[in-house]
Order: sequence, then structure tokens, then C-alpha cells
Amino acid sequence: MAAREPITLVTGYDYTTAQIINASTIDAILVGDSAAMVIHGYDTTINATIEMMVAHVAAVCRGAPDKLVIVDMPFLAHRHDQRHTMAAIDTLMKAGANAVKIEGGRAHVDIIRYIVDSGIPVMGHLGLTPQSVHQLGGFRVQGRDKIAGQSILEDSKLLAEAGCFALLLELVPALLAQRITKHLLIPTIGIGAGPHTSGQVLVYQDLLGMNPGFKPKFLRTYLEGFELIKSALDNYATDVRTGRFPGPKESFK
Ligand code: KIV
Repeated sequence: MAAREPITLVTGYDYTTAQIINASTIDAILVGDSAAMVIHGYDTTINATIEMMVAHVAAVCRGAPDKLVIVDMPFLAHRHDQRHTMAAIDTLMKAGANAVKIEGGRAHVDIIRYIVDSGIPVMGHLGLTPQSVHQLGGFRVQGRDKIAGQSILEDSKLLAEAGCFALLLELVPALLAQRITKHLLIPTIGIGAGPHTSGQVLVYQDLLGMNPGFKPKFLRTYLEGFELIKSALDNYATDVRTGRFPGPKESFK
């Protein structure tokens, strides 16, 4: 049997970016709660709210009508009670999302099963779960020792049994991600999880080099975005200051 082509995801948060992704060969867009950090400048994803995610997912869906759009359930949005959880999901789905992503393992299985049984596709998220950054003691690789790795593997099976259609694995050793991928019938999507997952995801701004100070081991940048955009802005400012912009071509007779 031929090996399946890896699945490609990228994060997206706004209409203009979504239009570019829509025109690309990327398979799907994750409206991540990383929006709180990348777009809003917070230190963690804990500051993401339903209102924030709704605004981002609606803009992305308007810009990328041809792509699968998955949206993050923000911090604690599914931990109050079932009524509040479903109201939050209702808003996100009506904003245009095709699926939701929920961080965490065994403690979240019941609510995930309920959401899936309600007809909502759910992507799981294990390994480094940034909403628990304070409990995990920082943004660091998870599942390095045998017991921790086994625990993530068991959680992955529980999430698959609960009905998740895919599983995101963040910052786990490549061999653990490979083991999990072999065990599951659902696809795994990795970020900092090595080459053996069913697909990969990166944060849009990171892969385009918009944040030159951020150089984690798992990241590859495909553009010097920060420098290119900065020099375009500098060129514009120089043209204005020296009277070269606007010229006759950009002026009305
Ligand atoms: O919120 C996010 O951007 C994520 C990353 C792991 C891609 O979940």
C-alpha cells in the first residue's frame, strides 16, 4: 500500500492571511489560541477568550472558504459545565469553524465524547499543552521519560476512543510520536514531534520568520519575514521623506 501524503496545517488568525493560505496547497487552518500571544502580545495562551477566538475564526473562514478550519477551545472554556461548553462551541461553529481542538488527556474524555456525540468534530492535543504551562513548568518537551511517555500514549488511546478525529502532538520526542502514530487509527499532527506523525503544523508567523528572536529547535523558517517587511516599510518612509512618493503615477490629474 502506498504511504499517505503527510497532512499540512498552519495557523491563521485573520482574513488577509486566510486568503493567502486559501490560495496555497496547505490542507487545513488552525485558528490557534496562540492568537493571544502572536496577535495580541500576551505571554501565554491563557488570555485567549471565546470572544477573541470567534472574531479570529470568523475572519479566517471568510478568507479561506475552501479549507478545513479548526478552532481552539480557549482556556477553561470546556471546564465549567456542559451547558457553558456547548454554548461556547455553538458560537465558534456558527462563526464558521468546521471543528474544535481541545487540549488535555484523560480528564477531558467525558466532555470530548459528549461534544463528538453532538456532531462536532474534535481534535485532541497532547504533549505540551500550553494552557497548562504553569503546571508543566514552562514551554518544554513532554514525555521524555518512560512513565511520562506511557501516560501520553494512554491518553492518546483514550482520546481516540472518545471520538477525536485527529490528535495534535506538541513538543514530544520523535520516537514517542512515532509510537503513538502507529497505535492510533486517527491521524497525528506534530509540532516539535519529529517526522513520523501523519502531518505537521506550524505557527504562520514563525514559519515566515516574523519573530526573529524565536528560534526553537523544532522550527524551520521559510522567509525572512521580519527583515523583508521592515525594509519595505523603511523604503516607503524614505520615499515619502525624499518626495519620491506619491509621484505622478500615484496622483490624480
Ligand atoms: O494554538 C496553537 O497555535 C497551537 C499550536 C500547537 C499550533 O495549538
